[in-house]
Amino acid sequence: MKTRHFYIFLRLILISILLFSLSCNNSETKKYTIGFSQTGINDEWRKSMNQAMKIQAAFYPGIELKILEGQDDVKDQIKDIEQLIGENIDVLIVSPVQATPITPIVEKAFKKGIPVLIVDRKINGENYTAYLGADNYQVGTNAANYLASLTTESKNIIEIKGLLGSSPASERSSGFNNVINDVPNLSVVNRIQGNWESYSIKDSLSKTLDSIKNVDYIFAHNDRMALGAWEVLKEKGLEKSIKIIGVDGLNGPNGGIKLVQDEVLMSTILYPTGGEEAIKLAVKILNGETVAKKNILGTTVIDSRNADILKNQFDKITQQQNDIEKQQDKIQLQEKTYSTQSNRLKVLLGLLITSLLLAGYSIYSAYNIKKKKRELEIRNNKITIQRNQIKKFAEEVKISNDAKVNFFTGLSHEFKTPITLILSSIESLSENNALKDNKLLREVGLIYNNSKRLLRLINQLLDFRKIEDRKFILKASETNLYEFSTGIFKDFEREAQKRNIEFTINTNDENLKIYIDRNLMDKVYFNLLSNAFKFTPDNGSIHINIENETDSNFVKILFKDSGIGIPKKDLQGVFKAFFQASNNKKPSSGIGLHLSMEFVEMHKGSIDVSSKHGTEFTLKLYKGHAHLSSDEIVYEPDLVDNSILNFDSNFEENEFSEVGAINDDERYSILIIEDNSDLIKFLKNKLKDEYEVHISDGSDGIEKAFELVPDIIICDINLPDKTGFEICEILKNDLRTSHIPTIMLTALNNKESYIKGLESGADLYLTKPFSFAILSQSVKTMIYNREKLRYYFINNIHKINTEHDFGSIEQDFLSKINQIINENLDNSKFSVENLASVLNISRVQLYRKTKAILGVSISDYIQNIRLEKAKTLLQETQLTISEIAYATGFSSPNYFSTSFKNKFDNSPKAYREES
Ligand code: FRU
Repeated sequence: MKTRHFYIFLRLILISILLFSLSCNNSETKKYTIGFSQTGINDEWRKSMNQAMKIQAAFYPGIELKILEGQDDVKDQIKDIEQLIGENIDVLIVSPVQATPITPIVEKAFKKGIPVLIVDRKINGENYTAYLGADNYQVGTNAANYLASLTTESKNIIEIKGLLGSSPASERSSGFNNVINDVPNLSVVNRIQGNWESYSIKDSLSKTLDSIKNVDYIFAHNDRMALGAWEVLKEKGLEKSIKIIGVDGLNGPNGGIKLVQDEVLMSTILYPTGGEEAIKLAVKILNGETVAKKNILGTTVIDSRNADILKNQFDKITQQQNDIEKQQDKIQLQEKTYSTQSNRLKVLLGLLITSLLLAGYSIYSAYNIKKKKRELEIRNNKITIQRNQIKKFAEEVKISNDAKVNFFTGLSHEFKTPITLILSSIESLSENNALKDNKLLREVGLIYNNSKRLLRLINQLLDFRKIEDRKFILKASETNLYEFSTGIFKDFEREAQKRNIEFTINTNDENLKIYIDRNLMDKVYFNLLSNAFKFTPDNGSIHINIENETDSNFVKILFKDSGIGIPKKDLQGVFKAFFQASNNKKPSSGIGLHLSMEFVEMHKGSIDVSSKHGTEFTLKLYKGHAHLSSDEIVYEPDLVDNSILNFDSNFEENEFSEVGAINDDERYSILIIEDNSDLIKFLKNKLKDEYEVHISDGSDGIEKAFELVPDIIICDINLPDKTGFEICEILKNDLRTSHIPTIMLTALNNKESYIKGLESGADLYLTKPFSFAILSQSVKTMIYNREKLRYYFINNIHKINTEHDFGSIEQDFLSKINQIINENLDNSKFSVENLASVLNISRVQLYRKTKAILGVSISDYIQNIRLEKAKTLLQETQLTISEIAYATGFSSPNYFSTSFKNKFDNSPKAYREES
């Protein structure tokens, strides 16, 4: 866009320059050059001629006058004329030094078409345009006639002639002699040859005068030679006796007129230079006017009678010429000023035109921009409308898509509980002796395996959704890789045997432990092995090889099969979602390998595939845990999750089943808060032998917990009234129930739920389908841990306020009990009821709470504190036994002694004596 504007601007400037230059050219008139070849510049006559030409030429602005001045030399003049011809002059003016040698070059110019004007002296022939000059023959006759008019006496004359070969010299001589020959009293006694300059005649004249004594007149062909003759006469003292006539009659200091006035010359014949007339004639020729071939200038005799008048006239003419010259200078100056101003004006005009063009262009551009803007606005509006429509469609599609996906996700979640129940029921069936050795067992096995398969598919679906939503949280725990792998290996052993597949697992390091999320890695293994078994024909081979690369940070796990392999062109796509290899004709969801890759990448590891005589998948996992963040690492006992048991393998007896052999009275109590009646039935059935099981459908879960103060609570999350999170939070923040271990049981397996569950204070979070074995073990572990805690409480009762931190609610509770008991230590009437009412709980709740966290009844606990205090008093004071008995709240010294003896196997008295 910018470049386009630049070019338009450039074009405007060029147009302006063009207009400007056109206006300049229009104002110029055509120029003509007149070339003048002068004979020389050494005398005043020639200078005067040149000056007159210049003044005249200045009247014509279209005329340029070029004068080449010469050296009174023929060769020089030929060169000058050649030069002028070469310069393509328009008119040639020549004053030839001599006629014959100059004629050819003049003819050359003439024949070339250059108009030629001959001035002053002539050439031979007629090959020129016109001649201008005075009649030299008449100059000679004028001189002779003048002498003849002076006297009738006999007189002798010396003739001093101009340059031989120049026409004025020969013509002047002819005119003079022709007249003299007809005058009887006059005779030319000698002729001296000069070259127009005074030095050329002086010697000859001096000698002539020495030899001829009666000379009366001298006729010199020009004033310069005439002056030279006078100087010779003066030297000889003859200047008064011999009279001289010259030619030219120039005005000026050494001119003929002045010489006549000074009586150096008797007279001079006027020979005008014709400079002014020559230019006028040349201009006429240039203008195409017809001119005469011969243009003769007037001549006259100047002597003492008219010299002054003529001088005055010539002075006036000179004065006028000077004025003209000055005016011409002024005019030239004005012309120059005019030209400068005119140029400025033109520049201004150019700029004005440019400005106008620019202004026009700006208006045009502004209009265009406005038009474009309007078009853009309209287009923009259209786009906005379309965008909004697309946005609306997209939102609608998203809502409908989300609804569908949520529906399927919800449905998948819903599938999980019944499948869990089916699987658990089958587990129970398998334990039923009546079924053992029954052919129904095979059918049951089929149901079990297919349910298991269904569950895996549902899990994959849910996992895919979770991966898409980035909701997975890695829970890596330190795991013996070989044992872990062997556990999964065993699940497939049976199938390998059945199909005679060589199935092996090998490692170079059986003790290698790495951090993996067992749940996720189990899925990866299961997927890779399922695929291997799916595509490997009977009698083939499948190998798992674990290589601990000792020189690197990685461990490699290779899964190699001898199956149909994957075509080379498909290799790149196998990890993409919904991918199906071109040679795979079996039904497949296409998400298994995609999930595997995602799970491996969550471990910062890599998975690669190659195919040559079968397929080989290579997992590369980090050793150590530097690659994991602290919240990705969890502690989990090294136990393989065998929740989904292989029906074909032998069910092992629950390793914790012996724990159930306790007396009914001593049985621990469990409160199950769950609204799924099937699950309640299942759990109750499984747990009732070992535990005292209480049930709540969620509506009265909290009330039941407060009332029963059970040893363990198992709570679902999706409940009708309050959610499991809310129930857990309330129970954990209440003194009566805060100590009770709580297990959250849910189908929601995502990061947020997990964190929320932990935040609400839950001690364990199990996702459906949960393993009953794990649930059962977790219940036992929690009860065991509680027992351990109790032991600490009992043994560190006196440290509660100082060193040990037992959990803030329990610690506060015990501190408060201790404080109240100590304050009432000497009060024998202080009872459990008193303590419960101060704590604002019921007597039963107080009893259950202290029993739960201390393992003793509250009355025994008070009694213990009294006796411990008494022990201290016996050791550290001199108080009597009765005084100590009352001081520690016993109603009588006897009761004190009996109680003391029961507790410490020693009487107070004996104890004091021994210590
Ligand atoms: C000037 C001059 C004149 C003379 C003329 C003849 O050079 O010598 O004195 O009259 O030439 O051509």
